[in-house]
Amino acid sequence: MKFFLDTANLDEIRSAAEFGVIDGVTTNPTLVAKEGRPFRELILAICDILPRGVINAEVVSTDTAGMLREGRELASWHPNIAVKIPMTSDGVRALYVLAGEGIRVNVTLCFSAAQALLVAKAGAYIVSPFIGRLDDIGQDGLVLLREILEIYRVNNFPVLAASLRHPIHVIEAAKMGAHIGTLPSKVFEQLFKHPLTDRGLETFVKDWEKARGVLGEIIEPATTPKRGR
Ligand code: E4P
Repeated sequence: MKFFLDTANLDEIRSAAEFGVIDGVTTNPTLVAKEGRPFRELILAICDILPRGVINAEVVSTDTAGMLREGRELASWHPNIAVKIPMTSDGVRALYVLAGEGIRVNVTLCFSAAQALLVAKAGAYIVSPFIGRLDDIGQDGLVLLREILEIYRVNNFPVLAASLRHPIHVIEAAKMGAHIGTLPSKVFEQLFKHPLTDRGLETFVKDWEKARGVLGEIIEPATTPKRGR
């Protein structure tokens, strides 16, 4: 499963990029608004940090004509940009046209298998079911993900598991075969952690310290070269 980072924060993206496991970024109007800087400049800065990543930028118009204008503009900023379009009738009309022009469209705010099937047929590059937001209203988001993956597997369409709130969401999405999972930085950082790792490391370091006199150093201090040699 590919990892996208679900943020528009450049520091978070830079820091996660250092591990070499981030394949792209998803932004949305809420995440972009938090950063308080020009949209284009922000998206291009993200493209610079991840030169091989897929960078998702979302339209804010709600009518087809507006989405088409914005979608074409966003796609023209950088070849790595995928355009996010909301799952509405106007959105699907725009998707069909943009996909026909070769623009990669990520259909966002997907909450049902019927919506997912529809947009795959209309040419979506990817669909984004929002797992956590379904959990928030007392519906199991992972059940929807499983259902969409089943349909998509048969039809060979890719799925992006979105709105992931904790490591269990990530693991389940990966086990089910989601093609991409988009993770907020907090969830990405949680993937690294296990208390037994911390405890184990603490013991290793302490035990080594106790025996250091006998063990010597792994890296011996550099000897000063003799003059005239
Ligand atoms: C994905 O593209 C969305 O930006 C994101 O996953 C939404 O997550 P949230 O429900 O935590 O806001």
